[in-house]
Amino acid sequence: MQYGYFDDTHREYVITQPDTPLPWINYLGNQGYFGLISNTAGGYSFYRDARLRRLTRYRYNNAPLDSSGRYLYLRDDDANVFWSPTWQPTRRDLQDYSCRHGLGYTIIASTCHNIHAATRYFVPQNQNLEIWQLTLTNQRDTPAHLSVFSSIEFCLWDANDDATNFQRNYNIGQVEIEDGVIYHKTEYRERRNHFAYFACSEPLAGFDTQREAFLGAYRGWDNPLVVARGESANSVALGWQPIGSHHVPVTLAPHASRQLIFLLGYHENPIDAKFDPPDSQTLNKRTVQPILAIYLRREHVDAAFEALRAYWDRLLNTLQVETPDPHTNRMVNIWNAYQCMVTFNLSRSASFFESGIGRGMGFRDSNQDLLGFLHMVPERARERILDIAATQLESGGAYHQYQPLTKRGNDGVGSNFNDDPLWLILAVATYLKETGDWRILAAQVPYDNRVGSETPLYEHLQRAFRHTLDRLGPHGLPLIGRADWNDCLNLNCFSDTPGESFQTTTNQEGTVAESVMIAGLFVAAAKEMAAIAERYEGSTGAGGPCCEAANQMEATVLEHGWDGAWFLRAYDAFGHKVGSHECAEGKIFVEPQGWCVMAGIGIADGRAARALESVHEHLATPHGIVLLQPAFSRYYLHLGEISSYPAGYKENAGIFCHTNPWIMIAEALLGHGDRAHDYYLRINPSAREAQSEVHRCEPYVYAQMIAGRDAPTHGEAKNSWLTGTAAWNYVAITQWILGIRPTFDGLQIAPVIPPGWRGFSAARVFRGVTYRIHVERKGNGNAVSLVVDGQPIQGNVVPLASAGKSQVVVKVIQGK
Ligand code: GLC
Ligand code: GLC
Repeated sequence: MQYGYFDDTHREYVITQPDTPLPWINYLGNQGYFGLISNTAGGYSFYRDARLRRLTRYRYNNAPLDSSGRYLYLRDDDANVFWSPTWQPTRRDLQDYSCRHGLGYTIIASTCHNIHAATRYFVPQNQNLEIWQLTLTNQRDTPAHLSVFSSIEFCLWDANDDATNFQRNYNIGQVEIEDGVIYHKTEYRERRNHFAYFACSEPLAGFDTQREAFLGAYRGWDNPLVVARGESANSVALGWQPIGSHHVPVTLAPHASRQLIFLLGYHENPIDAKFDPPDSQTLNKRTVQPILAIYLRREHVDAAFEALRAYWDRLLNTLQVETPDPHTNRMVNIWNAYQCMVTFNLSRSASFFESGIGRGMGFRDSNQDLLGFLHMVPERARERILDIAATQLESGGAYHQYQPLTKRGNDGVGSNFNDDPLWLILAVATYLKETGDWRILAAQVPYDNRVGSETPLYEHLQRAFRHTLDRLGPHGLPLIGRADWNDCLNLNCFSDTPGESFQTTTNQEGTVAESVMIAGLFVAAAKEMAAIAERYEGSTGAGGPCCEAANQMEATVLEHGWDGAWFLRAYDAFGHKVGSHECAEGKIFVEPQGWCVMAGIGIADGRAARALESVHEHLATPHGIVLLQPAFSRYYLHLGEISSYPAGYKENAGIFCHTNPWIMIAEALLGHGDRAHDYYLRINPSAREAQSEVHRCEPYVYAQMIAGRDAPTHGEAKNSWLTGTAAWNYVAITQWILGIRPTFDGLQIAPVIPPGWRGFSAARVFRGVTYRIHVERKGNGNAVSLVVDGQPIQGNVVPLASAGKSQVVVKVIQGK
């Protein structure tokens, strides 16, 4: 069953019924000002940091789900009836309804009582405000006398404090209203210099800023008193719950239309110009008035929307493909790329499943997100790499997370995840291949943000590399530390106290438990380091030590990390095997199969192929590849959080989608295009659209997790949007299945596509040059021959284009 359809021409997903299984959301904003918006206009907004600069309130886990948002009410003043044109919060029946989620905007349209209302929500480029552009059309043959009421509920900035500290917060709310603009200025009188504003383009009949005055006692957002009676209370909030609501009377002749604009924004004043007049306590509004004057005018709003579209077109045009498979095309060309940009912007902070107050920017997460957006915004990737590296510790280790507002690392969600530093190497290698910007390695970057501690970025990589070698365990494999990529495999934790965090509790020294997954990751990183050293240090043999370390680790994995038919997962704190046929549960895990094969381990002697066969046999389901089997049916003190989840959920044998592309890449490495693409389609959200009643999350973006075969809800997705799944699937399909892969020396074209495909074409912007690639299958197998601008070349790497060239045509014949 579907709840909508893809409109690929407009790059939109169109939801056609408001009661989707879960709120299906979209994001507004891509620089400083951000918002989440659901298909019924639920959600909230914030400036930069979803916790510390929250503009509007959102009640997570509410009933009904998703009942705070950017709501408008329409009232027919002749008939004394009202409704929500976005369905929520009144949930009155609508004659028709659609929600178009596009790239950085959402349009929700409906008809009720023969009044059509379409609201376009978006954030203009480079502005700290959002626009709600409402177009009303009277479809009746008689005049309509309407009232429009807007509504938002302000958050008192720190979302965590706002949701907990009521003894204080009920006393501090403050607003000003001037010329119909509602200014929210809680705490402005003392240490803040920022405020929010909510404005409307039309003359008002009234306003409200006190929630209880607007809703009425014991009434909810579904039935506000002010809307019911058709008249604002002109309330001025002081304490309690400040809100913003405008009342706009609108008369529409038969079949006439009218447009109204609402602005919600964030603004900062210079510290010495907070008040106007200076010795008063009145907010200085002169700095924001010019912005209001622009964006309350329709022509500027329309132009801003076109600029937003152009921005996204430019980003997405970095890579466009045309393959025989519509799900591949749609995800690569539109939604997967878009989701990669959203994970770049939001990391894991704010979604329908991430409350915006929990996690900052993850060290490993941010490095992996980079793999998916780098080609679209290389300058911002550069900045991101330097930010991440500046939080690295002198030991080469890493904070597990840092805060976006301060860019400083912290131990809030634990430390000593021994995989963390290695991801920096992979991210930088990918950056160098994409951009050729070798100067970044010379950039002076501090450790732990400490002034005076700077070294070149290159040394940061070397320290990250050494960090693993300095921490080897009894078998010569890397010590796992608190955990590796799998946050929940906590081999040194031993927690038996309710409520204790698995991520911050350590009850064991940690000198025994080892990770085979880190070993694979290390070998992959060591090979990249060797290649970087060769090129950067300029002396032959510079990569030698890294190669040796890689070979040594590879030998160790083959000796101590092989279980007979697959790679072992780990050794626990007692030196016992994890992820072995000898184990009662959790006999096989997906991560080491992916990473060891991706690192090239066991390819020569057939163990890689054997491991992937085992994945297919034991872990693959129609809904994707589960993380492990058999699921842990009880809690194991020595394994930690992984066994805390019910079987089939999350890391305990859920389909943890982030890991699936590793297997796709591994299959592609072994030349298995059919299997790689088959796995790709199993979790591809577009390919799952037809079973939306099972999948339940948005069909246009990846979710972190799909319930595994041990769960009663097998196939049900959770935690959509903010997941490393986005970047890795993008890499798997574009670089390994379609095989368009940046290298240090040029653009490699090595497709490993399904045998049934007759070919595909692609346009890829690489180092400023557009490569027009046409692949044609002439026979079986993956071998290719390339003709570049009419000249046959050796091998499959298109050399860098000569200066001044803007386009290169590459004809690829595949198969013999
Ligand atoms: C989440 C975390 C990520 C971790 C994964 C597996 O996606 O953000 O850092 O690797 O879970 O535990
Ligand atoms: C990761 C995991 C999740 C775990 C969390 C701990 O996000 O996906 O299962 O609970 O880390 O903070």
